[in-house]
Amino acid sequence: MNTILLFIFSMIYFNSQAQEGSMIRIETENFAHVLKIGLDHKLYQTYIGTKLNNNAEYEAVSKENIKKFVVNDGNPLIDLRHAAYPTFGTTNLFEPAIRVTHNDGNPSLELEYQKHSTKKIDDNCIETIIKLKDPQYPVFVELHFKAFYKQNVVESWTVIEHKEKEPITLYNYASSALHLDADKYWLTQFYSDVVEEVRIEESQLTKGIKIIDSKLGVRTNMFAAPNFFLSLNSKSTEETGEVLAGTIAWSGNFKFTFDLDNNNELRIISGINEFASEYSLEPQKVFKTPVFIYTFSNQGKGLASRNLHSWAMNYGLKDGNKSRLTLLNNWETTFFDFDEKKLTNMFSDAKTLGVDMFLLDDGWFGNKYPRSGSTSGLGDWQATKAILPNGIGYLMDQATATGVKFGIWIEPEMINEKTELYEKHPDWVLSLPNRAKDVYRTQLVLDLCNPQVQDFVFKVVDDIMQIKSGVSFFKWDCNRMMTSAYSNYLKKQQSHLFIEYTNGLYKVLDRIKAKYPNLEMMLCAGGGGRVDYGMLNYFTEFWASDNTDAFNRIFIQWGYSYFYPALATCNHVTSMGKQSIKFRTDVAMMGKLGFDIHVGGLKEDELKFCQDAVVNYKRLSPTIWKGDLYRLVSPYEDTRAVLMYVDKEKNHSVLFSYTLQPLTDPNYGLVKFKGLDVNKKYKVEEINSMPHGRKSFEESGNVCSGDFLMKIGLKVSSSQPESSVILEINAVE
Ligand code: DGJ
Repeated sequence: MNTILLFIFSMIYFNSQAQEGSMIRIETENFAHVLKIGLDHKLYQTYIGTKLNNNAEYEAVSKENIKKFVVNDGNPLIDLRHAAYPTFGTTNLFEPAIRVTHNDGNPSLELEYQKHSTKKIDDNCIETIIKLKDPQYPVFVELHFKAFYKQNVVESWTVIEHKEKEPITLYNYASSALHLDADKYWLTQFYSDVVEEVRIEESQLTKGIKIIDSKLGVRTNMFAAPNFFLSLNSKSTEETGEVLAGTIAWSGNFKFTFDLDNNNELRIISGINEFASEYSLEPQKVFKTPVFIYTFSNQGKGLASRNLHSWAMNYGLKDGNKSRLTLLNNWETTFFDFDEKKLTNMFSDAKTLGVDMFLLDDGWFGNKYPRSGSTSGLGDWQATKAILPNGIGYLMDQATATGVKFGIWIEPEMINEKTELYEKHPDWVLSLPNRAKDVYRTQLVLDLCNPQVQDFVFKVVDDIMQIKSGVSFFKWDCNRMMTSAYSNYLKKQQSHLFIEYTNGLYKVLDRIKAKYPNLEMMLCAGGGGRVDYGMLNYFTEFWASDNTDAFNRIFIQWGYSYFYPALATCNHVTSMGKQSIKFRTDVAMMGKLGFDIHVGGLKEDELKFCQDAVVNYKRLSPTIWKGDLYRLVSPYEDTRAVLMYVDKEKNHSVLFSYTLQPLTDPNYGLVKFKGLDVNKKYKVEEINSMPHGRKSFEESGNVCSGDFLMKIGLKVSSSQPESSVILEINAVE
């Protein structure tokens, strides 16, 4: 049958057979996710993609294989490829979203549609809840979809409960199952290691299953990031192509399964990694899966990122609409070697730089076993008298007197064996009986499944907040993953460990957020090994990497920018790289700026440069933090990186250009701008020049139309390796 005939046939077929109300549309401004109740009462996904103008035509969009479930033509094996939430045990032959064993040992689940409802949360957000039930067993599944209209983002999760007499066992319990039909599928994934965060790899999916997951328990995305792009038909670029972006708000083990079948149909199952985690669910208790977040763009990855940034700033990131504190941190200048005098001098350094806050890092605590290195003290959260005789309160007072805020480092989920805490509570650590402890970074993980440990971790923050008027900021670190994990608290239910640890952590963070709603906190895990939207619900920002060499940071920060907004990404100017202070500062300014340098060691012109840069940053940061990001030239494809942020009114923009290798092409540097208003005129000025006053951008001060800047562009880059240019672009007239 040719395509036109098939189309007409399907139109007639669907129009005559479809039941009233049998289609459920999850819609945003530009994309739609469409579900349909089959004649067999099961729920199917028929479409995900760019929104159609005419709703009735969703009936006709699916390919021939979709009609089979409506026909109910006796071929259920093929039908279930499109199941909206595939089950296991009866006729589904593909990767399930849910797998259950009932009280009588029956290992199968069927889910039929019962009812659905939609609820307007606010003018921008509608929640759809679809209730499914096993026809033979009292097991209930609710599929939840929250659609954010302007952001073009959907959050989806699942609620599972039952009324059997005894607990049922859940073996699979995904948050989301999506079905895509395209000719080809290109997966972009992000992989990491300590100091090598968010490397990017794009590859075409082949038939079979591809999994991106974590089994690390805590610091869960140390190796694989919980984010992906899936481009349809061909590779997408920044500006072109159909692309689905997905991420999960879960800070424990996660899993994305890409199941490409023999018909070239793709299912993406996303959620908690069920590995070693079968879950015994008590009757009447609710199992709520974490939120899977996705957006669909038909204009490439750039728009997908902007959608996610906008969602994050409005919904996903703690205080995403507020401002952030610039800071001076002491980690890379002092490590564990400091005392009261050194610190109070650094308060003055922070003031001299012009930043808002001083952040005291690791090494301030422990008395019986002082934290003079990484082998002791972790867990004893009292200031070390030998180096800080007047305690934290004195430091707070001194910082206030100097005119800067005071923040502090903690790593409250972890413990050194050489501590009073361990002497008192050896049973509070995760460690296997009859096996040697795996002491990674000479520390162990506390058992957050245990409510007493949860209380302890809450108290670490609460006690510090009770000193004087409390600190302004916490850096919450986490420097190891789980190995040899066993919870004394869970006893025979060890398969709950990975889930209950994460839930325990969230309980603590919920208490902190409730008691200190305005407290700003940085999420850290030996760099960015823990960034996900589960944690960012509690944290205002994250530490991107312990690799602070500005050259490497360009790649790392670029990688994060796909899924996380600039105001959440902490970048510090350090002395790790040997580049000029200008290059290092310019690189840090593309996100949330901080310093971790020996201010007294700066030459006069370097200090002046930093001070001016902080002033500039304060002026530019509303646009960097809240504007739209356009990635113009990728360091992964070129010898330079160029990106720009444009405010929502298209009046103000900041462009960053970083040259990595010498540019030899005579036309080097020409870049077309994006996101401006064609009808406006803009003054383009170089800022942060160094030596002070010398510009590398020859056209600085020129006025050009948005039309010209976007169609023709300007030569923005300097030709020298490891050099940078920042342009401030202001609408004039
Ligand atoms: C790892 C972090 O990433 C560093 O910034 C620093 O805080 C150290 N931990 C302290 O132990």
